[in-house]
Amino acid sequence: MVSTTNELSPIDQAKKKAAFACGKKYVENGCRLGVGSGSTVKFLVEYLKHAVKDGSLKDVVCVPTSYLTRRWLLDAGLTVTDLDVTPELDVCIDGADEVDPSFTCIKGGGGCLAREKIVQNAAKKFHVIADHSKEVKKLGENFKFVPIEVLPFAAQALLKTIPQSEGGSAELRMSKQVCGPAITDNNNFIIDWTFDKNRHGDWKEVQQRLANTPGIVETGLFIDVVESVFFAYDDGSVKEIL
Ligand code: 5RP
Repeated sequence: MVSTTNELSPIDQAKKKAAFACGKKYVENGCRLGVGSGSTVKFLVEYLKHAVKDGSLKDVVCVPTSYLTRRWLLDAGLTVTDLDVTPELDVCIDGADEVDPSFTCIKGGGGCLAREKIVQNAAKKFHVIADHSKEVKKLGENFKFVPIEVLPFAAQALLKTIPQSEGGSAELRMSKQVCGPAITDNNNFIIDWTFDKNRHGDWKEVQQRLANTPGIVETGLFIDVVESVFFAYDDGSVKEIL
């Protein structure tokens, strides 16, 4: 089913425009495509479904970054594979929670950050699709925390040590469906680290320290990996920033 743009809220219209513009430009016949997660990516799946159906796109194979994205791709009749079968990808397209002017992104609002980073890393090119609310001058303007996937065994210790080394505060993400921690597709927990919004843009150092901490699987900081970002605005325009 195609979502009629008029039925959508303004923010969903923007998400759809960004997803369709990026899909049209970067997904070519025969593309080995990494498909991110989240509500913006859902519109990318919609674009792929219709491009394949109307014959304008052929032989695309998709590597999803989450259980839900896999489900959407399968329901759309698209060809789904994984990194075991297709370890090298041409393009990966994903959403983001915030993107700053140097293309440093926070991702993982939906809890899929580890698989998203693995699939992004397998791709030659990584493009971000987002509505205008994700475009910020400085990380922390709207989205106040960095999601961090952790081994359950280490979670309580990390809830103490992350704020000690990085400042701010840390919270174990709880599930909205069950009375317990949110569990990732990798059977891990998520710690949401709320950082001081006045901190300097030392994100590479933060990433390095966190990545070297035992028990941390991955962070939602994506640094120096984005090729371009498609932002869509309320006036209906879409801008690709390179
Ligand atoms: C999920 C993600 C998403 O890409 C991010 O949360 C943006 O989601 P949405 O498109 O729903 O705003 O990183 O882990």
